[in-house]
Amino acid sequence: MDDRFNTAAGWVLFSGIVALGLSSLSAKYFMADKHHAPHEMGYPVEGAADEGGDANKGPSLAELLASGDVAKGEKAAKARCGTCHTFDQGGANGTGPNLYGTVGEDIGHGKRGFAFSSALADHGGKWSYENLDAWLTSPKAFAAGTKMSFAGLSKGEDRANIILYLRSLGGGPELPTPEAKPAEGDEAAPADAASDAPAGEDAKAAEAAAAEAAPAK
Ligand code: HEC
Repeated sequence: MDDRFNTAAGWVLFSGIVALGLSSLSAKYFMADKHHAPHEMGYPVEGAADEGGDANKGPSLAELLASGDVAKGEKAAKARCGTCHTFDQGGANGTGPNLYGTVGEDIGHGKRGFAFSSALADHGGKWSYENLDAWLTSPKAFAAGTKMSFAGLSKGEDRANIILYLRSLGGGPELPTPEAKPAEGDEAAPADAASDAPAGEDAKAAEAAAAEAAPAK
């Protein structure tokens, strides 16, 4: 009895020591106990910052534009957009406006006398690469009520190639540099990560407890 008690107490003591060791190790690993904690807490996730909050995985628009193919874009544009759009300078408007020189232009204000919907005419802004990419992903999501009946192109590569083709016709602003990262939001990110990293297990436990408690009422 005595022996068993001692063994049990020994194990309790031992696991306490192990737990202590682990917690101090993890504190060291994440440097949560240091005043000069690293600027970015936790560990960096490669490529995560490049997306600018975009849920899309894969290469960024800038990367796709940098590695895009104008010839492929021309083919795709003629096949996917050609029923409604012409691309040559001075080309006629069809179901949709002539698209020569669209890149960098005001949205919905083509000077070729096309009657735009108010969804586009009142949208504001210019056809930047980001706007074109969003528009071609889903015209309806970009400008609710648009009369461009086109579901959208799901592949970023296709969109980038077509945008490059449009740019090759009438010109456009300088292409974005793939390495460029937005400066804003620099402040908020590390604070978030700091509170997340060491408390990860606790947060999970709390979540589980909440999930268990919820259906009880
Ligand atoms: C079914 C016909 C149709 C198809 C297909 C179509 N469009 Fe359009 N597009 C339109 C119409 C109509 C508008 C004008 C929308 C409005 O006023 O709301 C438009 C507007 C646009 C604009 C805005 C032009 C400006 O000056 O503001 C761009 C850019 C554009 N389309 C690009 C494309 C591209 C690229 C494709 C192929 C991937 C495509 N469209 C496929 C009918 C179409």
